[in-house]
Amino acid sequence: MRIEKLMVIGAGQMGSGIAQVAAAAGLQVLLNDLKLEFVEKGLAGIKKNLSRDVSKGRKTQEEANAILTRMQSSTDINDAREVDFVVEAVIENMEIKGELFKKLDEICPSHAILASNTSSLPITEIAAVTRRPEKVIGMHFMNPVPVMKLIEVIRGLATSDETYATVEDLSKKMGKVPVEVNDFPGFVSNRILLPMINEAIYCVHEGVATPEAVDEVMKLGMNHPMGPLQLADFIGLDTCLYIMEVLHDGLGDSKYRPCPLLRKYVKAGWLGKKSGRGFYIYE
Ligand code: CAA
Repeated sequence: MRIEKLMVIGAGQMGSGIAQVAAAAGLQVLLNDLKLEFVEKGLAGIKKNLSRDVSKGRKTQEEANAILTRMQSSTDINDAREVDFVVEAVIENMEIKGELFKKLDEICPSHAILASNTSSLPITEIAAVTRRPEKVIGMHFMNPVPVMKLIEVIRGLATSDETYATVEDLSKKMGKVPVEVNDFPGFVSNRILLPMINEAIYCVHEGVATPEAVDEVMKLGMNHPMGPLQLADFIGLDTCLYIMEVLHDGLGDSKYRPCPLLRKYVKAGWLGKKSGRGFYIYE
């Protein structure tokens, strides 16, 4: 299926990154959020990224301008009536996503594919609120979206081969590498990444080492670009806790229990980079 017009719902860090790579792939993109100021903040981030690409010689000014002209702001969900494809990147909350997909199913043309960028919620359950479960799929982008190559593509129980093939094509057009996985809690990426982060937090909690020492061990010893605690701050400690809870509830194994120190930080409002404090302090 040919995709020409795509809507991204949620103009935060992930949504704006997705909108950028979609417009760079030549698609017409509607960037939607509840308030215009959220969309404008997302667009400002995209402009900054494109200016850096121009100054580094990765894109010409004309290419950057063309990408921006393919993007439109939207604060009305009914704009989805004219798109071929939707990528949802809103808050990780099953109730909110369920309501949104129900609405999208009513508004979007019947051929439209509805994708979720959820990092751990079940695609099968999201699909079940619609009358087109065969056209619902997970498209899990990695942060920062313009830089990271992977898209973890999650097939719900009813996702059709045709929908998967369209998403595979679209991912490649965006310059990404799609990897197919099935719908299980945390998929593959977060089933492996988050227990490692949680274990790093246990090392701090139990006094094995300081956050700086834990991160140095993993950066210098395992060649990770960021230590697990710096990465946790970057992802958001509330998101890390949420994903651990999804793994714990969904897989029922005590090895996924969230570290009490992670809970404590989240209760204190220490959410990582976005709140100015997590395992590190940010100016
Ligand atoms: N948007 C766009 N470009 C960005 C960026 C952003 N937010 N952050 C960094 N970049 C670009 C920089 O501009 C730079 O480009 P140049 O080559 O033009 O300089 C390039 O990326 C490298 O950046 P830096 O030199 O500043 O720093 P770095 O070499 O340490 O790389 C990093 C930064 C790419 C983020 C790297 O540290 C990294 O790969 N970290 C791990 C990221 C990771 O694991 N992401 C997955 C998180 S998990 C997830 O997303 C899923 C989930 O569900 C939780």
